[in-house]
Amino acid sequence: MIRSLEDYTEELRAPDEAEFEARGGLGRYYFDFLEAMHAFNRAQKLPTGLLTNDEHCLQAATRAERAGEPAELVAATLFHDLFDGWNHDAFAAELLRPFVSEETLWIVQHHGTFQKFHKPDLTDEQRNERERYRNSPHFDRCAEFCASYDAPSFDADYDTLPLEHFRPLVEAFFAGSYFAENARTGTG
Ligand SMILES: [Fe+2]
Ligand SMILES: [Fe+2]
Repeated sequence: MIRSLEDYTEELRAPDEAEFEARGGLGRYYFDFLEAMHAFNRAQKLPTGLLTNDEHCLQAATRAERAGEPAELVAATLFHDLFDGWNHDAFAAELLRPFVSEETLWIVQHHGTFQKFHKPDLTDEQRNERERYRNSPHFDRCAEFCASYDAPSFDADYDTLPLEHFRPLVEAFFAGSYFAENARTGTG
């Protein structure tokens, strides 16, 4: 049977508010998206022993959660390296912008630069590129994020938690924060 354009248009139609809530709302929407991006990254072909981006994100988020970090940082960590091939830190930050504090947004935006500090194969000038942000109020937290969670999370032997473990945190965070009074809507 040949399908009409109207059939496709009906399928592609954005759900109205009631349908959206019936499907699990914003929390479920973001977890499904996160799960799809993790699966996409898991399909990368890498040499044996190297972690794919999703495995690295899971390990960094596991470390952040075990260190007692707030839900928004754990959720952001699960997303922080899923967009390789684009300007990955800026892309992840824009996705998270409506939901997270200015500090967490800044960490995601700048982690790529701060990570260079932990790469011994770079020149001193490259490793110290983060110094241009020394006067930012978020410098120390971003440095801590990289030192404690991001840089160590390429360890194939670490006891990393599976994505499903983070489902309740992710769903509650995205469902709850978007309409919160303090939700960010401005620039950062
Ligand atoms: Fe990164
Ligand atoms: Fe990373």
